Amino acid sequence: MALGPNDPCWCFSGQKYKRCHRGREAPVVAGTLSPMRTVPESIERPDYALTGQPAPVRAVALHDADGIARMRRACAIAADLLTLVGEAVAPGVTTDELDAIAHEECVRLGVYPSPLNYRGFPKSICTSVNEVICHGIPDDRPLADGDLVNLDVTVYVDGVHGDTNATFLVGDVDAGSRRLVEVTRECLARGIAAVAPGREVSVIGEAIEAHAHEHGYSVVRTFAGHGIGHQFHCEPTVPHYHDRRARMEMLPGMTFTIEPMIAMGVGRERIWSDGWTAVTADGLRTAQFEHTILVTESGSEILTLPEGETAAWGPAPPAATGAAEPRST
Ligand code: MF3
Ligand code: CO
Ligand code: CO
Repeated sequence: MALGPNDPCWCFSGQKYKRCHRGREAPVVAGTLSPMRTVPESIERPDYALTGQPAPVRAVALHDADGIARMRRACAIAADLLTLVGEAVAPGVTTDELDAIAHEECVRLGVYPSPLNYRGFPKSICTSVNEVICHGIPDDRPLADGDLVNLDVTVYVDGVHGDTNATFLVGDVDAGSRRLVEVTRECLARGIAAVAPGREVSVIGEAIEAHAHEHGYSVVRTFAGHGIGHQFHCEPTVPHYHDRRARMEMLPGMTFTIEPMIAMGVGRERIWSDGWTAVTADGLRTAQFEHTILVTESGSEILTLPEGETAAWGPAPPAATGAAEPRST
């Protein structure tokens, strides 16, 4: 008889199976990469496209009206691209096939897939399966029934980047993993709802962490949200846990991502020898959702909301604790 999720684990750890070895029996292993895909010369490229090295400056992403208009377009394209690639998720489909779909759509639209050659990343999207936390490299591994897969897409168009990701269910997924995915989606919503001008960035992670802990999950601390605009990653850094050091004040016109990675286990990672793939050290699953956010005069706007989806998760209620309220001018 198969072990149920709440049965004691077979390894005699005393833990429930779902908190211990479940999902670790068949760890994700590195597959084979297809050759690097190319982007036509006619498509505008970010600074790192040829060398792999982005400019070392880390500015705060703060936009005027024209910059905001450009961010809106880049983010709308990223949102549609994520929907398109997500529709192709099914058992038997390889993550490289998903990368090909994303890459070809970028070429068709005349936009640059931001991950491609960013610090040497070899593919056009990130695909992170099960215990892979983030930065998974698309390869020839077919998705299996019961997997979770996070697709992270970013596009560069008209001088700015738009960045979004979501976790998709592959076929018939166990109830514990489905719950993880739902709570992670809620964590992003809580983080977004905490955004308001005049508050410190730390209120975002404070809200996310409270919700994750309420459900018995942990927050991955190593990877943070980030300012985004002319640069793929810039200031501010947006921790997904309560970090008192994240003292930057949110200002209207600022754009950054919120992208919590929520773990069933302790959420500590190790990095594969490919230099990218971050997996949980305990082998337990994580989920992630990401939006690019604009700070507005009254709260926030989600720039990567897919068409037809309404912003049911904003604008901001008062922050839970100790946060400065929006200034009246
Ligand atoms: N899109 C990821 C993020 O949310 C970054 C991917 S970097 C890459 O920040 F090089 F792996 F593409
Ligand atoms: Co991303
Ligand atoms: Co991001």
